[in-house]
Amino acid sequence: MNPITISEIESIAKEKLSPVAYDYYSSGADDEITLRDNSEAYNRIHLKYRVLVDVSNRDLSTVVLGEKISLPLMIAPTAFHVLAHPEGEVAVAKAAGSEGTVMILSTLSNSNVEEVVKASQKQVWFQLYVFKDRAVTEALIRRVEAAGCKALVLTVDAPLLGRRLRDVRNKFNLPDGVSVKNLEPFMKENLPRRNDSGIAGYFADNLDPSLSWKDLDWLRSKTNLPIIVKGIICKEDAKLATENGVDGIVVSNHGGRQLDSCKATIEVLPEIAEEVKGKTTLLIDGGIRRGTDILKAVALGADAVLIGRPVVYGLAYNGEEGVKTTLNILRSELDLAMALCGCSTIRDVDRNIIAQ
Ligand code: FNR
Ligand code: LAC
Repeated sequence: MNPITISEIESIAKEKLSPVAYDYYSSGADDEITLRDNSEAYNRIHLKYRVLVDVSNRDLSTVVLGEKISLPLMIAPTAFHVLAHPEGEVAVAKAAGSEGTVMILSTLSNSNVEEVVKASQKQVWFQLYVFKDRAVTEALIRRVEAAGCKALVLTVDAPLLGRRLRDVRNKFNLPDGVSVKNLEPFMKENLPRRNDSGIAGYFADNLDPSLSWKDLDWLRSKTNLPIIVKGIICKEDAKLATENGVDGIVVSNHGGRQLDSCKATIEVLPEIAEEVKGKTTLLIDGGIRRGTDILKAVALGADAVLIGRPVVYGLAYNGEEGVKTTLNILRSELDLAMALCGCSTIRDVDRNIIAQ
């Protein structure tokens, strides 16, 4: 079967992945309330369309931090792509580049950043987790700068890892021969063997839960790359982020994998957009599975959206080609939705297409 929706891609991926890998990719924290709500909240928002608008020429492209992308959709950082396909992050980078969009590479990738950047025709940004050992963090920053990454995406919603029950039951760990590649030089490439989740153990052992706003100054002093903060879900923190001079914000609850029962991201986007629109680049992720979801997010103030799970499912389905399939399903759905709403360009997409 050739999948024609993101949900069909997920079904095929579920068949192909090991149960442990599927559980890791698909799960959310605790009761998975936020995981479900991220998607369902889009269904509660209705579109309003206008007719008799000439939509014969449509352009989905936009610009994010100076980089032109072919549609307002980028690849969210997700860990451990080799669990989905032997080519891992390199295949995702090839697909993102040839489809004209930016990939954000996770700190916890199974491929070396240098190979990933080389594989893409477009910019690769690097998602940063800050290690307790700041020397490790600094060396990692030097490495990704030298590799040619064009922005740092600092994830701030994971001082500790959320409790994903399926990972705990599976005692999640990486198979032999698969490691956190970019941390190999610093001997932090392996997840600890534990009686619960190895990834939760890795966070507790290595990542710095003391991170606070003052560390943004520290980070700024260590790099000239643009800094985007990922994991903001309220206007107060969005305001603090802009006051701290960040170049962008990702409205994100980590795909419902951290604090369960926090609000769906699309529900908090409007108040955050009101606070920061025009002051900083505004991105959002969580639960985006349809072209109409992208349209709603852009209409409510996002400059672009990120997708996480649909990319790893595409990768499991058919490697680089499968990721392209994911991107192209969403591209054609967005294109059609724009036409039916009476929008020819991303600039036409605004609050007027949201039904009150
Ligand atoms: C993630 N996410 C994530 N975020 C991050 O900053 N660094 C990371 O390494 C990871 N790893 C990761 C692994 C997996 C399997 C998932 C599903 C998610 C969160 C990710 O960037 C993004 O916020 C969500 O995936 C967005 O939600 P959707 O699109 O998956 O619903
Ligand atoms: C996760 C981490 C790695 O969500 O960000 O699994």
